[in-house]
Amino acid sequence: MSNTVIAPSILAADFARLAESAGAVEGSADWLHVDVMDYHFVPNLTIGLPVVQSLRKATTLPFDCHLMIADPARWAPQYAEAGAYNVTFHAEAATDPVAIAKDLRKAGSRAGLAIDRDTPVEGYLELLPHFDLLLIMTIKAGFGGQAFIPELLDKVRTARRHVDAGHLELRIEVDGGVADDTIAACAEAGADTFVAGTAVFGAEDPAAAVRRLRALANG
Ligand code: DX5
Ligand code: ZN
Repeated sequence: MSNTVIAPSILAADFARLAESAGAVEGSADWLHVDVMDYHFVPNLTIGLPVVQSLRKATTLPFDCHLMIADPARWAPQYAEAGAYNVTFHAEAATDPVAIAKDLRKAGSRAGLAIDRDTPVEGYLELLPHFDLLLIMTIKAGFGGQAFIPELLDKVRTARRHVDAGHLELRIEVDGGVADDTIAACAEAGADTFVAGTAVFGAEDPAAAVRRLRALANG
């Protein structure tokens, strides 16, 4: 049985039709990736808690919230309380990542740690037992539709070796430029969880795009 998780990012969907976009990948996707940006941690601004709370009632898909925000200690647990399945925050924005992970689990979600383009993964490997997911950006966080950076897969390989050697229960997620032509390399490097925005919601048939991505990831 495959362990692959495909998480379409609604950043590439029509923001006036989020519920319909979620509905389009129910049954094909595993999770719905929700990119929260605050105009401070990244220069872009997207959606926040009220949208997540409303959208939670509009789809059965588990939410994979990716917080690109400056103050995750303050905000992250509220996404867990809003019903997110997983809440990921950025290592670069956190002074005590393990404390936030504990708060997330207490609030009822899984905890994810994200590593942006310019951050080496080595300094965070020892924290991974406190997390359920490690998100390795394959672009610079902030905008959809950017070109995949293959060199960043070295971080995925490093993390995969560490996770396997330590027998950790941890998903390794890639985010940014994941598409038909890049997903197999991500899987080969050791990722098992794949975010795809443009490749899914930019496609004529989002559900078919998810199925194609899954097949390519599974080789
Ligand atoms: C960007 C977001 C991504 C974005 C990916 O900072 O974290 O989730 O939606 O978009 P694509 O798949 O188009 O690169
Ligand atoms: Zn994301």
